[in-house]
Amino acid sequence: MRMIFMGPPGAGKGTQAALVAEHHGIPAISTGDIFRYNVGQGTPLGLEAKKYMDAGEYVPDSVTNSMVRNRIAESDAEPGFLLDGYPRTLAQVTELDGMVEASGHAIDVAVVLTVDQEELVQRLLKRAETSGRSDDTEDVIRHRQEVYVEQTAPLIDVYRDRGLLVEVDGMGEVADVTARIMAALDGLATS
Ligand code: AP5
Repeated sequence: MRMIFMGPPGAGKGTQAALVAEHHGIPAISTGDIFRYNVGQGTPLGLEAKKYMDAGEYVPDSVTNSMVRNRIAESDAEPGFLLDGYPRTLAQVTELDGMVEASGHAIDVAVVLTVDQEELVQRLLKRAETSGRSDDTEDVIRHRQEVYVEQTAPLIDVYRDRGLLVEVDGMGEVADVTARIMAALDGLATS
């Protein structure tokens, strides 16, 4: 299973990716988490990424693509993977297509979580009380939503046109959202 999880900041990608990936026995690969790890370690990648993350902008495609290429080449991703927050640009879609095709596989499904705009902001402001994330300030949270609409929302049509899109209502309790995703994925397996 090779899955993509999409959705605006605060939609619950990370929360749900961990649960769904565990259920399928594949790694959840979050580009945001990998960047934050590198920021924490003070690596050159982290120093480069931090400039963009703090402003709520996307890290350049060249940096992000090579990081994902290396990560999905690791042995634990051989049976499959769940990409949380990648691809986010059309250039990343093209790059991912090449990576997956080169390994003789294909993307099986792209799950997009939909959540009301104000709920997104409220979730992230609540997380800001404890997360310590430098991009969880109200201005940057709102800018991240704009960047998503401009650069990533158009990808939804790309995966819809390929017949790979599964849209899931991300409102409500975490467990209810998980159940909706699992049901949608089970539906694919039996269709
Ligand atoms: P990333 O870490 O991926 O941040 P994001 O996309 O802004 O998403 P979030 O982590 O804020 O939200 P989420 O949808 O994962 O929701 P979560 O489960 O955490 O990326 C950070 C930055 O890295 C980017 O801005 C960019 O700079 C860079 N980057 C990453 N990928 C990149 C790429 N491909 N290209 C270029 N740059 C890239 O939940 C959010 C909160 O809501 C949590 O507190 C959670 O507990 C809560 N919550 C979750 N579900 C529910 C629910 N059902 N009800 C109530 N609360 C809930």
